[in-house]
Amino acid sequence: MALDIVIGAQWGDEGKGRVVDLLSESSNLVARYNGGDNAGHTVTVGEKIYKLHVIPSGIIHSNTIGVMGSGMVLNPQTLLEEMTMLRDAGVTITPERLWISDAVQLITPAHRLLDRAKDAALGKAAIGTTGRGIGPAYEDKASRRGLRAGEILDRAHFEERLRIHFDEVNKILVGWYKQPALDIETLLKEYLSCADEMRPYIRRIGPMVQEALKAGKTVLAEGAQGTLLDVEQGTYPFVTSSCTTATGIFSGLGIGVQPVRRVVGVTKAFQTRVGGGPFPTEQDGDNALFLRGSGANPWDEYGTTTGRPRRVGWLDLVLLKYAHEANGFTEIFLTKLDILSGLKEIPVCVAYERDGKKMNTLDFSGDARLMAQCKPVYQNLPGWQEEVRGCRKWSDLPKAAQAYVKFIEDFVGVPVKTISVGPERSAMIIKD
Ligand code: GDP
Ligand code: IMO
Ligand code: MG
Repeated sequence: MALDIVIGAQWGDEGKGRVVDLLSESSNLVARYNGGDNAGHTVTVGEKIYKLHVIPSGIIHSNTIGVMGSGMVLNPQTLLEEMTMLRDAGVTITPERLWISDAVQLITPAHRLLDRAKDAALGKAAIGTTGRGIGPAYEDKASRRGLRAGEILDRAHFEERLRIHFDEVNKILVGWYKQPALDIETLLKEYLSCADEMRPYIRRIGPMVQEALKAGKTVLAEGAQGTLLDVEQGTYPFVTSSCTTATGIFSGLGIGVQPVRRVVGVTKAFQTRVGGGPFPTEQDGDNALFLRGSGANPWDEYGTTTGRPRRVGWLDLVLLKYAHEANGFTEIFLTKLDILSGLKEIPVCVAYERDGKKMNTLDFSGDARLMAQCKPVYQNLPGWQEEVRGCRKWSDLPKAAQAYVKFIEDFVGVPVKTISVGPERSAMIIKD
């Protein structure tokens, strides 16, 4: 019985896809339990780059079964596009190897329009959502009028519920947001046809996952987004609408509390964020260009889902410690160390100052308003000039790079077990 968990320790895009790809080799089930197609997980296999939004990244390995848990919000249209993309790449997608929970909440095109209208209406206070309808779908879930995948199994009932949903959203879009009316008949036809294709994959998955655990199989939970985007612990209100931390796994898969073997916190060697909200160590100018890249490389900091340039800055260890407190990491997977080659000194944030007081750890839960008042206190660590993309052993790394990694371990109190130095599968170092 082994439950392993991969969690983003920052504001998303830490490189979870590549970590899940690595751990999937020895896993039987790979499960998404939160979020929807706001996620963009990149897996690089030789020349091929997969960008997965809803199907668990581990599906690329033929030994796995992909599981989509009840904590997710799912757009059937995106699902079908992703199935086609994977099949074209030679990946087998059948109901035997992709299970979708009957309690998954459905995202519709109406949710997407509502998401964009709501965020635009916030003006300068906009969250900068991905526009995928995530917030409105979770709102419907919480207010108990959401559409669940299991309803698709009764077509007449589902059509009626869908019609009521489109009608309700239409009233809000037209009446409140002054948007054009939805073409309900066309939307219904398109959506029902996608839902029909999804039908064979829908089932009650909790007992199946539990059964697999009892039988000694390895289940890998693939977190989406990152701890600082968690709806409770994140930089509220600049967060997503789901539980992105390790704690969401049990309800998000419907399996009850289980012993966990590993909680892998994934962090970049620096900090990035997409969308609005506080970012104490954010950089602009030359530093930003250095960290983001110009867009020439596939790994440069431009959003996997929206293509937006990511905001970038120095590594924030106060927030990494905060993420550890929220998740209980058993190990850290450090990505993109290669990007830092060529700096004389590397600043890392080791404390905040607020109201003339120094804080080594956050004394509030995320709150964006308070975090915007925090000034970072930096410690400058020695940089290294050598290119590290060819390093495959701990001893291959320059001494200063080793010291950078050790500093992170000591500060957070969690071992860095793996370090990646490029997006490719082999471009990593297993420490110890
Ligand atoms: P995720 O959402 O956490 O799965 O991360 P994304 O896929 O959105 O973004 C991570 C980006 O960094 C992708 O383009 C990866 O291919 C790339 N990447 C991951 N690890 C490394 C690394 O060690 N070095 C470099 N240069 N790129 C990496
Ligand atoms: P992965 O899984 C980075 C951000 C959006 C926005 C906020 C709310 O690839 O790490 P939403 O559409 O969820 O309502 O947007 O959350 N966001 C992400 N940022 N990576 C992600 O996923 C994200 N998913 C959502 O940019 O600021
Ligand atoms: Mg991403």
